[in-house]
Amino acid sequence: MNDKPIKTLLTVNDLAAMKECGEKITCLTAYDASFSALIDKVGIDMMLVGDSLGMVIQGCDTTLPVTIADMVYHTRCVTKARRRSFVIADLPFMSYSTPANAAKLMQRGGAQMVKLEGPRFEIVSFLVDQGIPVCGHLGLLPQMINQLGTYKLQGKEPAEAKQIIADAHLLQQAGAGMLVLECVPAELAKEISAQLSIPVIGIGAGVDCDGQVLVLYDMLDVGIDKRPRFSKNFMLQAATIEAAIDAYHQAVKKALFPSLEHSF
Ligand code: KIV
Repeated sequence: MNDKPIKTLLTVNDLAAMKECGEKITCLTAYDASFSALIDKVGIDMMLVGDSLGMVIQGCDTTLPVTIADMVYHTRCVTKARRRSFVIADLPFMSYSTPANAAKLMQRGGAQMVKLEGPRFEIVSFLVDQGIPVCGHLGLLPQMINQLGTYKLQGKEPAEAKQIIADAHLLQQAGAGMLVLECVPAELAKEISAQLSIPVIGIGAGVDCDGQVLVLYDMLDVGIDKRPRFSKNFMLQAATIEAAIDAYHQAVKKALFPSLEHSF
């Protein structure tokens, strides 16, 4: 008899259907098997194995030192322990140029989708053509920190906002199946979420996105660095980590998070 627990993984179609019927999509970053199992148990729809692990796990100042080998290792840890949550893995800095890296995240890591930063339409289209689902990432791009100088709100000026809207459409046209919008004004994210047919997941992008993602260690208040203004300490009113994750899940599903205090 096979006594392995049954996996019923969410698919891109399930997530698209959630957008279609207006159900908010919940997502947290995850980097290891224990948190993966807990996040999955609570019912969080997606886990992002973010290259933020460079900062919260490895103690680096930026995400730039993270390698594809690091990402494969952590993605594998996360996918082994989950039963339902959809798993996205970040392509780290300078790893986009060969499809072999995206393939490693899927074949060795078990990711269902890869995420890459910026308006890289040709790369998105190239990966999608080979059966690799891609999530775009616009707004604040942490891998560009050495050009940006500081982590700050993007799309505040009308010309910048127009560019982000145009890039979002072009990513969708290139075949991206999802889009993360980081640290942009809530009104801009609302407009993009309404215009695109693919799910738009916000972080510091207001309540009107199709879903929300937070860095796990920020919302559990165990970060090394100061918690960003758009995040929230869900441990404040929770007796356990599981309760804090559940409070986040409920707050996003009911569109109670992010509030104005956590938006721009
Ligand atoms: O690496 C990460 O955790 C991310 C989120 C901030 C969206 O890309």
